[in-house]
Amino acid sequence: MSTFQFTDRNLHDDVRDRSSLSGDRLQIDHLVSQTEPSEDELHPGSDVVQGLTQTQKSLPPRYFYDDLGSQLFEQICDLPEYYLTRTETEILGNCADEIAHLTGACEIVELGSGNATKTRILLDAYQRAKYPLCYRPIDISAGILENSAQTLLLDYPTLQVQGLVGTYELALQRLSATHRPRRMICFIGSTLGNLSPQACEEFLQQVTDALQVGEYFLLGIDLQKSKAQLEAAYNDRQGITAEFNLNMLRHLNRRFEGNFDLTQFEHFACYNSVQQQIEMHLRSLRVQAVQLAALDLNVSFDQGETILSEISRKFNLAEVQHQLQAKGLKSLQVWTDSNQWFGLVLCQLQPS
Ligand code: AVJ
Repeated sequence: MSTFQFTDRNLHDDVRDRSSLSGDRLQIDHLVSQTEPSEDELHPGSDVVQGLTQTQKSLPPRYFYDDLGSQLFEQICDLPEYYLTRTETEILGNCADEIAHLTGACEIVELGSGNATKTRILLDAYQRAKYPLCYRPIDISAGILENSAQTLLLDYPTLQVQGLVGTYELALQRLSATHRPRRMICFIGSTLGNLSPQACEEFLQQVTDALQVGEYFLLGIDLQKSKAQLEAAYNDRQGITAEFNLNMLRHLNRRFEGNFDLTQFEHFACYNSVQQQIEMHLRSLRVQAVQLAALDLNVSFDQGETILSEISRKFNLAEVQHQLQAKGLKSLQVWTDSNQWFGLVLCQLQPS
C-alpha cells in the first residue's frame, strides 16, 4: 500500500492521545503501527527518494495535501470544469435516504474525511431516519480531523465523533479489531482512482478484512467519459489545478529542504485512454538539477522530462461491481447521475 501511507509525522510507540475537546461526544485517537513501523515511519521521505530515482520519475499524491494544497483542492471542487464533486454531491442528495433505509442504524466510518461536506448529506439522512448518529472519520491530518469534528458537533447536537488519525491501512486494521454495531465504511470522492490496479486490489482486501459479515461499504467513483471532458477537468482555465500540482514541489521544498524552482516546472495533464486514467505530471522547462538536502538527494532533469504526480483512474461501474463481488462485497444498489458521470455503489459483506 505504498501510495496510501498517508503518514505525515514520525510515530513511535502505540501511543493513543485522547483529546476530549468536546466533552464525551468527541474522541480522537492517533494510530501508530502495533507491529512493525512502516518504511515511511522509519524513514520519512523514502517514498520521495524512491519515486524520483526511477526512469519515469513520480511522486506520491499524498504530498499534494499540505494546508495550501488542501485549500487548493477545495477550490478545484468548485471549478466549472471539475464536475466530480458537484455530481457526487447531487447523487448523494438523491440517494442518502435510501442508503439509510438499506443499512438501518449504523456507524459511519469515513476514509479521508476532509471537510466532511458530503458526509453531512449522509448524516442528515440518518438523522431523519431517527438513527443514533455515530461518525468515525479517518484522516492523516489531525488538524483537518479536529476542525471538521468540532463543526459537526455544533451542527448535530446528538452526534458522537470518534476520529482516527492515521493511514487508511492502520485504521482499517484497527477497525477490524473492534466489535460494535454495524458499520458502513465510506470511501467517496473517487480517491480510489489514485491507486494503481494492484494497490486498489490490496485496498479492497483490507476493506473486506475490516468488515464483519453484513456490514457495508459505500464507494464513490468517477466514471469513464470523453477525453475532452476529462482533460478539461484537469486543465482548468483558471489554472488552479496547475497551482495545486506545482504546490507539491513547494511542499517538498519545505518538508525536505529542497530547492525546486517552481517557475522552471509546468503542469501537464492528459488522459491515457488505454489505461483509462488521467495522468498528471510536472514538466521540467529546462535542463536542471534539484537538491533535497534532508533526503541527501540530487535529481537531474532533462528539458521536457516529467514527474508523474498523480493518476486518477476512471472506472466502469459494472467492472468495479464485479471486482467488489470477488471480494465478497455484494452490491445492493448503485446510483449515478443523469449523465452517468459519477457512480456510487453500496455493498454488503457476504458470508464467505
Ligand atoms: C481527490 C483524487 C479524487 O483525482 O480528481 C483533482 C484529485 N487532482 N484535480 C482527482 C485531483 C487534480 C482528485 N481526487
